[in-house]
Amino acid sequence: MDAIDVIRTKRDGRALSAEQIAWVVDAYTRGEVADEQMSALAMAILLRGMERGEIGRWTDAMIRSGSRMDWSGLDRPTTDKHSTGGVGDKITLPLAPLVAACGAYVPQLSGRGLGHTGGTLDKLESIPGWRASLSNDEMLAVLREAGAVVCAAGDGLAPADKKLYALRDVTGTVESIPLIASSIMSKKIAEGTGALVLDVKVGSGAFMKDTTMARELARTMVDLGTDHGVATVALLTAMDRPLGLAVGNALEVAESVEVLAGGGPSDVVELTVRLAREMLAAAGVSGKDPETALKDGSAMDSWRRMIRAQGGDPGAPLPVAAETVEVAAPASGVLSRLDAYAVGLAAWRLGAGRARKEDAVSAGAGVTLHAKPGDTVQEGRPLLTLHADDPGRFPRALEALEGAYEVGTQADPTLLPLVID
Ligand code: URA
Repeated sequence: MDAIDVIRTKRDGRALSAEQIAWVVDAYTRGEVADEQMSALAMAILLRGMERGEIGRWTDAMIRSGSRMDWSGLDRPTTDKHSTGGVGDKITLPLAPLVAACGAYVPQLSGRGLGHTGGTLDKLESIPGWRASLSNDEMLAVLREAGAVVCAAGDGLAPADKKLYALRDVTGTVESIPLIASSIMSKKIAEGTGALVLDVKVGSGAFMKDTTMARELARTMVDLGTDHGVATVALLTAMDRPLGLAVGNALEVAESVEVLAGGGPSDVVELTVRLAREMLAAAGVSGKDPETALKDGSAMDSWRRMIRAQGGDPGAPLPVAAETVEVAAPASGVLSRLDAYAVGLAAWRLGAGRARKEDAVSAGAGVTLHAKPGDTVQEGRPLLTLHADDPGRFPRALEALEGAYEVGTQADPTLLPLVID
């Protein structure tokens, strides 16, 4: 087999054979196919697309590049959630312990933020002592202790995706439905969960800017999960404005703890409860209702056990940024629009995110919202608070927010419903 033949096949718009896919993914993982050859192939896939059978075989090859985890020894079903990423999307933090409190196991491998979207591991690492890297045995021990575990994927899980994703990131080949779907689903299938709920975000702060593309991505991922024996469902949800009132690592942990304590912003609570019900239904578990588990303290108990079991102190004060700047409402009226991408970009520039994979993030940096679209605001009163350790970061964050919000007489009627479909 020859890499150039494989590239030519896709370049000329033909489907890759099963043998070509198995060979090229394996040879790339072993370093036999060069980065420049794989980037040419990724670009050909982005431009020419893939048929359903090809996407399935590509996903299989990525799963087979590493090991597949197995939770069949546990006494309760496993279920997980994956979000395609957004601004203020801290849902995993309250959701994983909540679903555990309702009777299922949640083994979740999560990622770090890149660009304007935050990453679950970066958020949890703002809790003093908390550890993202666990061995398989440690992961199992946390699951048994707390019912939920959120940690980084080990090197043995879909290594082909690890290599390919880093390459796509620097070659303009991220935005391809076959490549995104196979990347996400190879990791989730290899993780060994029995059921999976996909939260596919739509809007300026998401990968998918429009509902049609998001629906196609969702359908492709649901088919991949189902074909691999994972009970998979997808929800399309709004990411045209930030989720909740906090964007930034420790700020989002604090908001998640409010939700676990029975409070928190209504959109975060609504989405957490909705996704919890979907995860439990997909796993066939009909235990405690999620709303009850938020009110009776059992979700909070699971959270504390989960954080402690991973070395964290759930009672420790969270890091706070050294400096803050207020952004005032420009007029009195109703906040009609607050753009998710702009707020994510501002938080990133304040230090909450990283520009390169190896950069460190600031735990305390981010943006707090004092109003959401549809809320009444008063001229001169705070609309946003920006948090940073280094005051030199404020000017570029403020620049990102230019034109990002508007005050009028009503919420913009084109705003997406929280759960679109
Ligand atoms: N997240 C992933 O894990 N892979 C992609 O390709 C895009 C988002």
